[in-house]
Amino acid sequence: MKLLWTFLLIGLLGAAQAIRPIDPLIQQVTVDPSAILVPQDDIIGAVNSEPSATWVAGENERLEGFTVDDLKVLCGSKAGDPNALPLAKPLTLKRSHHPDVELPKNFDPRQKWPSCPSLSAIRDQGHCGSCWAFGAVEVLTDRFCIAGHENVTLSTNDLLSCCGFECGDGCEGGWPERAWEYFERSGVVSEQCDPYFDTVPCKHPGCGPVKPTPKCVRGCKDDELWGDSKHYAANVYTVGPDVEDLQKELFLNGPIEVAFTVYQDFAHYKSGVYKHLYGGVLGGHAVKLMGWGTTDDGVDYWLIANSWGYGWGEDGYFRIVRGENECGIEGEAVTGLPSVKKVVV
Ligand SMILES: *[C@@H]1O[C@H](CO)[C@@H](O)[C@H](O)[C@H]1NC(C)=O
Repeated sequence: MKLLWTFLLIGLLGAAQAIRPIDPLIQQVTVDPSAILVPQDDIIGAVNSEPSATWVAGENERLEGFTVDDLKVLCGSKAGDPNALPLAKPLTLKRSHHPDVELPKNFDPRQKWPSCPSLSAIRDQGHCGSCWAFGAVEVLTDRFCIAGHENVTLSTNDLLSCCGFECGDGCEGGWPERAWEYFERSGVVSEQCDPYFDTVPCKHPGCGPVKPTPKCVRGCKDDELWGDSKHYAANVYTVGPDVEDLQKELFLNGPIEVAFTVYQDFAHYKSGVYKHLYGGVLGGHAVKLMGWGTTDDGVDYWLIANSWGYGWGEDGYFRIVRGENECGIEGEAVTGLPSVKKVVV
């Protein structure tokens, strides 16, 4: 009897949660997600006529012709505990602690470190659920430059294909924490050595299901040696969920990899400060947290780089409400420092 009540309660909570957004949309999506196209005019209309909305919805060129299922493929950040893997080593990530630092009201790393070109670069994961790998590789790339070591573009392909089950399922999703452990343990080569496999643009529909994970080759396409091209992380650690801890880390050391829950409306983000309003869950997504600010209307936000190319959001970037753990954005932050181990001076 008690068990039955628990089930009923869970059922009710689940139903209540599902009804919170506009329910006709949810109904549609639970019927057949493979047939539903992104964008959806009813979501765009609902967001844009919502008086309290802090962002503008519209169609994103990058997602033209995508179905909801195609979009789910891009959300490849695994939720849950990577320690649950039976074969992997347990995670032993430390938490960062920073002394008091005076934090500015607005912070954009492109202004603090103008000689780091990677801070202004947006990458594109193609048709593979490799966001967990892109977030990690982008952050370590930035941090090699910020620390004054080197301008290098690090390879997503190495991490995606060579980390194996320790990191998860490649193009079908992985754990950001595991990516950072890979950087510490195995390092990551340059993009020129091991370029990303999925760079050929493809118009939906007709791009097929998820791209298969590329094979780990451990050989450079350019004239470098695999071992010589490796760049390592040292002191891999988690940050947050305290907002000030996240800010201090960004301000002192540069970008952080974060993960959050993607809802349908996120695909329609064009500009402003995103806050979830309508639509159901598509999956977990990992991205590069860069900075913060407050709008003229007093909305506190995080500045984030997505990995869906320049044809999405604010030229590839987006802003999301800061200080409310919106969609879990403050809850799963991980990063690390570049190691001087392989830096040739
Ligand atoms: C990176 O390249 C920029 C020019 O694009 C240069 O100003 C800067 O000094 C370089 N940084 C490092 C660490 O080599």
